[in-house]
Amino acid sequence: MSDAPAIEKALAELVPDGAASARRIPETVGDTLFPEERAAIARAVPRRRAEFIAGRACARHALFRLGQPAMAIPSGPDRAPIWPDGFVGSISHCEDLAIAVVARCPGAIRSLGVDIEPACPLEAELVENICTAAEQRYLANAANAGLLAKTIFSIKESVYKAQYPLTHTMLEFLDVELVLDATAGRFDAVVANSALPPLGGRFRIEAGHILALTYIAA
Ligand SMILES: CC(C)(COP(=O)(O)OP(=O)(O)OC[C@H]1O[C@@H](n2cnc3c(N)ncnc32)[C@H](O)[C@@H]1OP(=O)(O)O)[C@@H](O)C(=O)NCCC(=O)NCCS
Repeated sequence: MSDAPAIEKALAELVPDGAASARRIPETVGDTLFPEERAAIARAVPRRRAEFIAGRACARHALFRLGQPAMAIPSGPDRAPIWPDGFVGSISHCEDLAIAVVARCPGAIRSLGVDIEPACPLEAELVENICTAAEQRYLANAANAGLLAKTIFSIKESVYKAQYPLTHTMLEFLDVELVLDATAGRFDAVVANSALPPLGGRFRIEAGHILALTYIAA
């Protein structure tokens, strides 16, 4: 069982001012789905139902923290969540946790992307598919290269989720290049062939999990 309170605290420290977050443990969350959310899991296996239900519960809790009553958050045809008017947000789940972040929009934040992964090294044979040449040079000088490579994977998933609502563009891992400040837990990201400004965010390794958050300022 994960140390969910420690991860909740770490996530709350990652989110920028004006945003809110929440976490749930899948399998422990009652089904509070709205009818318009159910299509997304109509034929899903129990594990997928549990993570979806937990993700929606997190999202509603985070919205509640911003003063928003419970509302439906359906999935679009591209699987991206459709947030209530006036909000942006992002959801992620791994085997033992679901998390969500939300912010009011318009406001200081145009878009958010979040990811959670188990804090274990990326398989060596995947590194060249995930990390650019510059990122691989960075890893070559790092003490914990495998874990940092997994962190790069997680950050790129969060970048993808943050940029998608603005661009509706599918990205490959090598379309995104990161510069990490591992000490500060910050990163900058450049998306190839994109009109987006440079992106950035924060990451943290806490209680056996990698947390990555990308935010695009208004
Ligand atoms: C969405 C994706 C990034 C992560 O999905 P995953 O592996 O299931 O992992 P997570 O649990 O972290 O995230 C799933 C959640 O992301 C959200 N999501 C899915 N598609 C999304 C999109 N296009 N834009 C924003 N958020 C999206 C959903 O809330 C989803 O959960 P839900 O279906 O329960 O609502 C992945 O499935 C995907 O579509 N990848 C293709 C693009 C990519 O990865 N490129 C390389 C990185 S640049």
